[in-house]
Amino acid sequence: MKLDIFSLFPEAFDWFRTQRSVTNAIAEGNQLRLINYRDTTPLGAGQVDDAPYGGGAGMVLRVDVVDAALRAAYADGERPRTVLLTPTGRLLADELADELTREPHVALLCGRYEGFDERVHEHLADDEVSIGRYVLAGGELPAMVVADVLMRKLPGALGHEESAVEESFSRLLEGMPEYPHYTRPAAYRGWQVPDVLVSGDHERVRRWRLEQSRARAEQFERDAE
Ligand code: ADE
Repeated sequence: MKLDIFSLFPEAFDWFRTQRSVTNAIAEGNQLRLINYRDTTPLGAGQVDDAPYGGGAGMVLRVDVVDAALRAAYADGERPRTVLLTPTGRLLADELADELTREPHVALLCGRYEGFDERVHEHLADDEVSIGRYVLAGGELPAMVVADVLMRKLPGALGHEESAVEESFSRLLEGMPEYPHYTRPAAYRGWQVPDVLVSGDHERVRRWRLEQSRARAEQFERDAE
């Protein structure tokens, strides 16, 4: 997969790019590119935003600036799936992440200030994605969340091929949260690891884990009511 992130603050991703799942995914032939809208702005003095028509607080990212960045990045006919990060977009969940991971080429567009000129939504984006119903200062943290969830789903991104398969909300767990994990010591300050996990009985362990996942799923539903 090729993943391009458009941002006014590409340096915000410096740490993210060093993460093992990302370096593994890149070693497997995937690509992660950071692109700064400011590098291709058609306006003077690196301008990228402007005051909103009709007045009001804050600045708006200009449509010509976003369009220029996309045109500079992509040859004619090359059209990645273009996703805007906005608080009002489609809520990110495992299904949407799976859908995006199947795309060969994805562009994530980070906004800042009051957001994008509406024509970016209308004419340049395919999707809008939100990581939750709250407003962050910009799209960089949401883009990092999306990039993280996409990249760790790519083959070879995780050390153990299985790790992403049987984890919370995955198909293997029927969309349920993952069961609890324990490691050594078996007893600590009187806090015991469940006996079944040290029993060596794989079938009992499998059933116990499934029960735990189901119990957590039921709790989730109660919490959501
Ligand atoms: N930009 C600002 N807030 C956001 C959010 N919650 N999700 C996605 N993009 C955003």
